[in-house]
Amino acid sequence: MKILILNGPNLNLLGKREPGIYGSRGFADYYDELVRSYPDTELSYYQSNIEGELINELHQKGYTWDGIILNAGAYTHTSIALRDAISAITAPVVEVHISNVHQREAFRHQSMISAVCKGVICGFGLDSYRLALEALIHQK
Ligand code: DQA
Repeated sequence: MKILILNGPNLNLLGKREPGIYGSRGFADYYDELVRSYPDTELSYYQSNIEGELINELHQKGYTWDGIILNAGAYTHTSIALRDAISAITAPVVEVHISNVHQREAFRHQSMISAVCKGVICGFGLDSYRLALEALIHQK
C-alpha cells in the first residue's frame, strides 16, 4: 500500500511549537519510527505552510495512492479549497489532529474537511498518525 502523510501549516515546528499541546518530539524522528514499524507499507511525507501546495500534493497522489493521512493544521477550520480537493480525489483521506480540538477554543470545533474525509482521529498526540495508518491499512 502507498500512503501519504500530509502536514499543513506550522507542523514543521513540531517539537518546539507549544510543547504543552503538541509534545516535544519533532515529526522527522516520529516519521522515521513509523517507516521502520511498517516495512510493508510505502509511506511518503510532505509538509507545507502553503495551502495551494497542499492541494497540489492531494491532486498528485490522490488518484493513484491508497490513502492519505491529512493534518491540515489551521486550514482544517477555514479551507473550502482543501475540502474541494479532498472531494475531487479518489483516495480515502483520514483527518488527523495531534491535540483534541474539541477540548480547545470554539473556532477549532468546526472542520471544513471532516464531512468529506473517511474518518477523523484526534487527541492522541503523534500516535494519532499511527492510528490513522492502521485505519487505512485495515479499511474495508
Ligand atoms: C492541529 C489542531 C489545529 O487546530 C491547529 O491549528 C494545528 C494543529 C492538531 O494537530 O492538533 O495547527 O491540527
